[in-house]
Amino acid sequence: MEGEWSMPVAPLFTVRICINKRLNTDRLPSCGGRGSRGLADALERLITAERIPASITRGPCMNNCMNGPNLKIQGADYFNLQGDLSDAAIENIMVKIRAEAERRKALASQDPPP
Ligand code: FES
Repeated sequence: MEGEWSMPVAPLFTVRICINKRLNTDRLPSCGGRGSRGLADALERLITAERIPASITRGPCMNNCMNGPNLKIQGADYFNLQGDLSDAAIENIMVKIRAEAERRKALASQDPPP
């Protein structure tokens, strides 16, 4: 990654993205075939740039191939992007990632139960 170096932030949660790419022998769509690998890279750049305590996990098929790319914010939202990798769709995901980060930070700052 280019640009100014900054101290990494320990992740509080993960965002799991299906990057499965079929060889197209069965003619089903796949998240990787619909651009999920580039989406994972884009989200990773944004998370790093904003120092959000989250990590991207590139994973296998999530069994919802017709509606991908698919991704899941750990403990929060699940997205079926239906091939929509627009800036608006990515910003919508980032809004949810930022909200989850704030929720996790608030939980971490609470006093432990007696
Ligand atoms: S290829 Fe992504 S859910 Fe199956």
